[in-house]
Parts: sequence; C-alpha cells; structure tokens
Amino acid sequence: MQDKAPLVEGLLTHINEKYTGFHVPGHQGGKGVDGILKVLLDEPFKADLTELPGLDSLHVPRDIIKEAQEMAAQLFKAGETFFMVNGTTGGLLTMINTACRPGEKLIIPRQAHQGVFGGIITSGAVPVYISSPDMSPEQQRIYNVSARDIEDALGKHPDAKAVLVNNPTYYGVCADLHKIREVTAQKGVLLLVDEAHGGHLSFHPDFPPGAAEADADIWVQSTHKTLGSLTQSSMFHIGKERIDRERLVNMINIFQSTSPSYILLASLDAARRNLALKGRGVLENTLAMAKKARSAFEDFGFILLPYHEGEFKLDLTKLALFTHNFRETGGEIADILRKKFKIQVELYDRNHILLYLTLGHQERDLEILLNAFRELSKNLHLTDSCKKNLALNSKCTLPPIPPSVLTPREAVNSATEKVPFDRAAGRISAQTLNLYPPGIPLLVPGELILSEVLEYFPEKGGVEKEGISPPLQINVVRE
Ligand SMILES: Cc1ncc(COP(=O)(O)O)c(C=O)c1O
Repeated sequence: MQDKAPLVEGLLTHINEKYTGFHVPGHQGGKGVDGILKVLLDEPFKADLTELPGLDSLHVPRDIIKEAQEMAAQLFKAGETFFMVNGTTGGLLTMINTACRPGEKLIIPRQAHQGVFGGIITSGAVPVYISSPDMSPEQQRIYNVSARDIEDALGKHPDAKAVLVNNPTYYGVCADLHKIREVTAQKGVLLLVDEAHGGHLSFHPDFPPGAAEADADIWVQSTHKTLGSLTQSSMFHIGKERIDRERLVNMINIFQSTSPSYILLASLDAARRNLALKGRGVLENTLAMAKKARSAFEDFGFILLPYHEGEFKLDLTKLALFTHNFRETGGEIADILRKKFKIQVELYDRNHILLYLTLGHQERDLEILLNAFRELSKNLHLTDSCKKNLALNSKCTLPPIPPSVLTPREAVNSATEKVPFDRAAGRISAQTLNLYPPGIPLLVPGELILSEVLEYFPEKGGVEKEGISPPLQINVVRE
C-alpha cells in the first residue's frame, strides 16, 4: 500500500493527457518563462537551496535578494517590493495585518478573496461591505466596486482605516482606481489593492491602469497567475509613503516561511527580467489573440463582457463566456471541452466558463481553442430568446449578505459545535462558506445563517459539475 504516491501519480497522469490549458499559472507549461529560469531549472534539485553564504536571506535581505527586489520595485513603479512565497493569500494576510489593528474597520467588497477574510480574522479587523445598490448580487460577483459606493461606505464609516479593492476581479473587470484613490486620499484612509489577477496591467497601454498608476498604498500581485513565475510566488508592493515599514516587515516575517523556496524566488526574478526585456511585445500578442478570440466567441453565440461599462474597464485577457443563450450549462460545456477536446478552462459555473489568456500562450493554443469551439458550438442548443449582451438577469443570483452578529475573529474563537447543514438556519456561523472557485464567501464567521444561503446550494447530484458542493455540516457558535 505504501508504495503508492497518489499525488505524484495524479500529476503524471494529468501531464500525460497533454491538455491545452487556458488557466493559471501564466507560464503555460514553461512557454512563458525567461530562458534564464529554464537554465536554472534544468537540474531543479540543485537549485533547491537554502540561505547559504552568498545566497542572502529573504527575511533580512542585504545582497542578491535585495538587488532583485529593488529591480522589481523599479519596474513595477513601487516604493519598495517584497517577494512572497506564500502567494497573494500570504500577501493579503500581511497587508491587512499591517493596515488594521483589532477592532479597526476595513472597507471591502463582499466578493473579496478568502485571503482577505483570513486577514480579517487574524488581525481582528471589522469588515464593512461596500454596498452596491445598483447591482444585483450576481452582478457584484462579476463586476467591480464603484468610487461612489466606496465614498458612501466611507461617509457611513468615517473611522475606517483602509479600503481594499480587487483589480481586476476574477472576470477581468477593473475598478476606476484613480477615482477611488481620490476618494481615499480625501478621507485620509489607506488604499489596498488585491491585484492577484492584474500583475500585467501596467505593461501595456491597452490595459486599464494598475494600482501603481493609481498611487495605491499597498498592492499584491500573483506573479504566477499572469506573469510567468512559479505557482505560489507573488510580489508585494508598497507606495512611496504612508505605510509603517517596521510593522510591515514584522508582518511579512510572521506570515512567510523561514525556509522560502529559492526556486520560487528565482522565478520572480526571472519573471521581472522577462517582463522588462520582452513584456510589451509579448503582451501585444496576447492582446491580439484575446481580441480575435472575443470576436469568434461572440459569433459562436456566447455573451462577453463589454470593454467599458460605466466606470468599469475590462482586462481583455480574461475571457468570461456567458452561456445564457444555450440550454447547456457552463459546467456541461467545460466537461465537453475537457473530455472531447482536451482543453482545460480556468473555472466555470452554471452560467459561464472563464478562460485565461496569458503571456505563455501562443497562436497554436488559440487555434486549438477556436477549432474546438467551432465544432462544439454546432451541438449546443440555443434557447428561445437569444441575448446579445448580458442582461444580468442571470439564471443564478447570489443570496443576500447575512447580518453580522459577531466579528469574524470573535466567531472563530468562540466555543463551537457542528450542526447538520439543513438545520443551521438561525445560528451564528463560525466558519466561512465559500463559492469556490474563485473563493467568494456566501457566509462569513459571525454572520447569522439565513435560509437563503443554505438554499443556494443545489441538491445532491450534479454538484461537483457546477463547482459548488454543500458541506454535510456547518460549524456554528455554541448557544
Ligand atoms: C482575487 C484573488 N485574490 C487573491 C488570490 C490568492 O492568490 P494566490 O493564489 O496567489 O494565493 C486569488 C486566487 O485565486 C484571487 O482570485
């Protein structure tokens, strides 16, 4: 029995299937990495080193890591850059714990990543959700938050310490960071940006502006998602002032391993170099492919998000294909793509599939994708009333945000008990219930469990297909 290595074997099986991927990591099987990294990783075990003389230390960088981080800061137009080996998730924990002390308010979109909630729990911050009265919950999942809604939240909570926004959302929708910066500057609060999906934004003028251009205070980017470093490697950037650096460094050292992988760190250095030397040209190609793909997908009958809508602008490399014109669900289409065409998508649910185009993709990948869709779309069944754009009266809407009874930190530190899923209504949750991917919370610790939240989960069967699985039990605060 012990001679099996299920994880290793699972990965080998996946590799042997030779899928074409439209998902992260951005290097796409190594196609998007700097040649210098390939030289280093030719013998990966030799590069798997630790803090030896001459190799510097991530926690007290003085030499090669310091130099690499400084070069990154210069390229990314940051006051200072820190390399992260625990992804943007670790960066969000660091960011929130730097900005907020227990009891301090942090203004966030409800569709924040679970790392934001991790930061809220560990710091003891109190989340205040940006209310977007003009959007349905489903729209809020896809779109971003507006400067006006942030201004309203700050008007109601003038004691807030910071505002945190996504740029872009998982679906590529960018906020108007310049306007948001004006609002936060006027109110004297910090602007924190989860730029997990936006590391490339500053490197081509056809992308909406990134956090650097908007003079954010802290922004974190999953370099591995869009810029070709290895999975789990991210960059944490700070602006020119306003951050208590000593507190920040302390938090970085709390949330990072004392044995950071040099392979991950080197991949960040190589991704920076690649971007500096070739970024503009490579991103030009990626954008050209994205535009071609968009127009083909529209011809096939899918609905795509517009380039501009109000103050929102789209990062075109995220191809969210809404399936409202078809009887088939996003899950069914993703299934056909995987089984019949050996294509893997980034994510899907009932109403859409999401494809990522990154700097690692080449023309050949696009050809494979479009050929597959050409064939696949012949067998899709149109609904009776076809739409041209996303009316956003979509088939599924998210449940309302439940009222908070305790702070997330109070709830996770309370005495708890488990209750069956279908008998949890009316209790206070001690856990997060996420819609995963991409990790949007339907329930946050400390919130009253509403029956609408429980009803949102489909009945057993077909559940995995849609990327949602209800737990059998929920951890609640003991009464
Ligand atoms: C919006 C957002 N923020 C943060 C993260 C976490 O990033 P990482 O995977 O680098 O930890 C993700 C991951 O998917 C994300 O979608």
